[in-house]
Amino acid sequence: MTPGKSTKKFDVAVIGLGFVGLPLVVEACRSGLRVLGLEVDSSKVQHLLRGESYIADIADAEITEALEAGFHATVDSSELAEAEAHVICVPTPLKDQVPDLSSLIEAGTAVGDHLSGDELVILQSTSYPGTTQDELQPLLERRSGLRAGEDFYLAYAPERIDPGNTSWGLRNTPKLVAGIDPASTNRAVELLGKVCEQVVVVSNPREAEMAKLLENTYRHVNIALMNEMAIFCRELGIDIWEVIRAASTKPFGFQAFYPGPGVGGHCIPVDPNYLSFRVGQLGYPFRFVELAKEINAGMPAYVVRRATELLNERGKAVNGARVVLFGVAYKPDVADTRETPAEPVARKLLALGARLGFVDPHVEKFLVDGVPIERLDPADDPIDGDLGILLTPHRAFEWTKLAAAVDILLDTRGLVPADLCERL
Ligand SMILES: NC(=O)c1ccc[n+]([C@@H]2O[C@H](COP(=O)([O-])OP(=O)(O)OC[C@H]3O[C@@H](n4cnc5c(N)ncnc54)[C@H](O)[C@@H]3O)[C@@H](O)[C@H]2O)c1
Repeated sequence: MTPGKSTKKFDVAVIGLGFVGLPLVVEACRSGLRVLGLEVDSSKVQHLLRGESYIADIADAEITEALEAGFHATVDSSELAEAEAHVICVPTPLKDQVPDLSSLIEAGTAVGDHLSGDELVILQSTSYPGTTQDELQPLLERRSGLRAGEDFYLAYAPERIDPGNTSWGLRNTPKLVAGIDPASTNRAVELLGKVCEQVVVVSNPREAEMAKLLENTYRHVNIALMNEMAIFCRELGIDIWEVIRAASTKPFGFQAFYPGPGVGGHCIPVDPNYLSFRVGQLGYPFRFVELAKEINAGMPAYVVRRATELLNERGKAVNGARVVLFGVAYKPDVADTRETPAEPVARKLLALGARLGFVDPHVEKFLVDGVPIERLDPADDPIDGDLGILLTPHRAFEWTKLAAAVDILLDTRGLVPADLCERL
């Protein structure tokens, strides 16, 4: 292979223009790279070509800037033939609780069909250890008739992006990179070093794949620990949030995690299942993940139990009560409702006969089993309710206004002053 000889139109093709792929497009264009974006959802491509972003962390102006820098979005995979490098950022969901690599296989097929030799392929999607070398590499080789490490370069570089995080983004979060051989690592470091300030080399894709899953599993397990403690601390009359604040003063050996109504998004509820699936193939369970899953998945039911108790203490039933959910996105300051714990909370409250509404400045529509929940806009609608439940603490919320709007405010996050609310 002789790097740097190509005369293709694009330095890099990003495959999958979602929460991970689109920020990469923007940063790569900013770094002066010529970027192609391949996306199967044609409506997303239409938005991009009009200079419109569909991701809250990316402004329309940034898309316009990228287009002016030469960014081209397409649904036509044949255009991949014009790229020197391919970065795969497609979803890796679960189907019936097992990893669903169908998008990855589809993307790998499209890339493999357009390799001509000397290109670099980087997988960024989260998956179980072995995916790069046992799934993607043979697929690319089969489709292209070329050999990884001989005719093209292959690496894994997990994405750590944290939507809504204004301090840590794609550029300043250290990037793990592991090629299948030293030449692949060097090519991947050279490319990703243009968009990330710090690239950290890992010796093998398996270790990098596992590192990504360790990061997510670590959060999953520690959040579960806090959730379990929150439940018995309340019964013991102990304020779990003060406990965490106190423990956090230790300058070493402790990292704070917090209880809440459950876990949402992709990284925590979904990704650890990729690891437990792989461990399960060894013939035994990954017990920490199984336990964390059980505890975190039980939190929405616990929130509803607390809501029921609080109404009951005031002589009211959930049936017929007006209940307002504050924040239905899965985390603060984003519009993303994927796997949000607000959904099982709402489902259970509806089943008990509650009259539900929600307030969320970032979410326009919130459907539970296809049924839209009434959206309340504090600017237009008088918000009043028998009970309000603070699920996701968006920056825009003012605790005193939330507390004043409802008879009882149940704070699942430990943020509202104790004299204004009831706690989880
Ligand atoms: N969202 C996060 O915060 C985050 C953080 C770190 C890692 N990840 C991982 O990154 C990967 C992508 O996640 P995401 O959040 O960006 O998902 P996403 O659903 O937001 O975006 C993926 C995009 O890929 C497109 N797509 C699917 N199949 C395709 C194909 N064959 N060709 C081209 N486009 C295709 C989809 O239409 C979608 O627009 C996943 O493995 C995820 O686990 C996500």
